[in-house]
Amino acid sequence: MSKILDGKTVSASVKEAVRTQVKELSKDGISVGLAVILVGGNPASKIYVANKKKACEETGIKAFEYTLDENVSQSELLSLIETLNAKKEVNGILCQLPLPPHIDERAVIAAISPEKDVDAFNVSNVGKIVIGNYDFLPCTPAGIIEILDYYGIEVEGKNCVVIGRSNIVGKPMALLLMHRNGTVTICHSKTENLASVTSGADILVSAVGKAGFVTADMVKPGAVVIDVGMNRAEGKLCGDVCFDEVSKIAGYITPVPGGVGPMTVSVLLKNTVTAAKRQNGR
Ligand code: GUN
Repeated sequence: MSKILDGKTVSASVKEAVRTQVKELSKDGISVGLAVILVGGNPASKIYVANKKKACEETGIKAFEYTLDENVSQSELLSLIETLNAKKEVNGILCQLPLPPHIDERAVIAAISPEKDVDAFNVSNVGKIVIGNYDFLPCTPAGIIEILDYYGIEVEGKNCVVIGRSNIVGKPMALLLMHRNGTVTICHSKTENLASVTSGADILVSAVGKAGFVTADMVKPGAVVIDVGMNRAEGKLCGDVCFDEVSKIAGYITPVPGGVGPMTVSVLLKNTVTAAKRQNGR
């Protein structure tokens, strides 16, 4: 049986550090604020945003919530971001993705001031990550690295396989594993003989978004399996990995829920504190 990598425990320790730093900053009269923008009623996005707001409250970060109608125009959204870019009490800005199809996601991400881009989605922050000299790391991949560090799992020299090449998870995950001297392969929907690639992985990260995608025959015995999927199957929340069968052969595995998800939120808080520090000359 695999060892469970418990994201809730790791997240609690990151949040505790955030809470302490927020308290320290407040002694110097510095408050920490995060603006969270939700467009439309995507049920998953509503849950993510509610979790982010709750985590802000738990750590003393002030959450500014903006819920916009599904039909809001792109120019209205961009003008809200411009206002938030200029608002001193707001240190970080997050616009929950995906956005409705009439809105150009790239334009929205580009509009967020790089100093307040706590998702690290902006091209200037992505570029900084590529060269290894950054202020913010993208929340989900950085949260995965925090889990590996917490459990003492070494990346250096390991075969790391990432399934999925999104800008939010797959691509930055590959970069962070490379920064840790992993030997990294990215797989995607056009990869041939996927199982032959994944079964060579010492560390396997799945960010596909399909329930039951990773089966036991795709996993090397003893591997570290990180499940980024957040899917619904038969009304139940589940990841990409067939947990019951894979947990019998993997060395370590993240559950869904309670694995990567809580880490995304706690790294967001950490980034918001970093933003507040930078904006106050620290
Ligand atoms: N949608 C899914 N994950 C994320 C995330 O980390 N940040 C934002 N802004 N939207 C998301």
